[in-house]
Amino acid sequence: MPKAFRAYSDATVYDHEETVAIGEVLQSKDRLPTEYMALAPVSHSPWIWSDVVRMKTLNGSQSRRNVELHICPLQIDIVDRLIDRYSNPGDVVYDPFGGLMTVPYRAIAKGRFGMASELNATSFKDGLYYCREAEAKRNVPSLFDLLEAPSIEPSLDDLTSEAVR
Ligand SMILES: C[S@@+](CC[C@H](N)C(=O)[O-])C[C@H]1O[C@@H](n2cnc3c(N)ncnc32)[C@H](O)[C@@H]1O
Repeated sequence: MPKAFRAYSDATVYDHEETVAIGEVLQSKDRLPTEYMALAPVSHSPWIWSDVVRMKTLNGSQSRRNVELHICPLQIDIVDRLIDRYSNPGDVVYDPFGGLMTVPYRAIAKGRFGMASELNATSFKDGLYYCREAEAKRNVPSLFDLLEAPSIEPSLDDLTSEAVR
């Protein structure tokens, strides 16, 4: 339903009464979800992001790990877009209200240094888990890194009479 409504909304001008009517039909068939927004209108302005996946937050990982959900973690889509726009690789990205550490977690994944402060010890500890995970992922060499690594076999050039002696 969210996908179908997005396509409909993208092709039409927003009509509040019509949206409410669609919602009522869905509700009458017991198909109006209570856990996410099925009827999210699409913005036709490039200044408004209406394509952010609201449910993609670190609470998804919290729930899979069966640990405490945070009250309001930021959407990963928003954090990624802001890090891309306002920082460069190697910069420090700081969130004074770190929560589950979404900002430093994504900053590390994007080649920045992540920093944050957080009052709640449980959130801090859980956030640290994600930051360490991002750091570990970043430190795993890719196949390309291996191709660029200097060979440990001596090349013919190394075998000069000087080197051999
Ligand atoms: C809206 S949440 C931030 C969520 C976070 N950006 C994330 O994506 O997980 C605000 C957080 O700020 C923390 N907080 C509130 N006052 C604070 C303070 N003075 N210093 C540090 N953290 C604080 C709260 O404990 C809460 O986790």
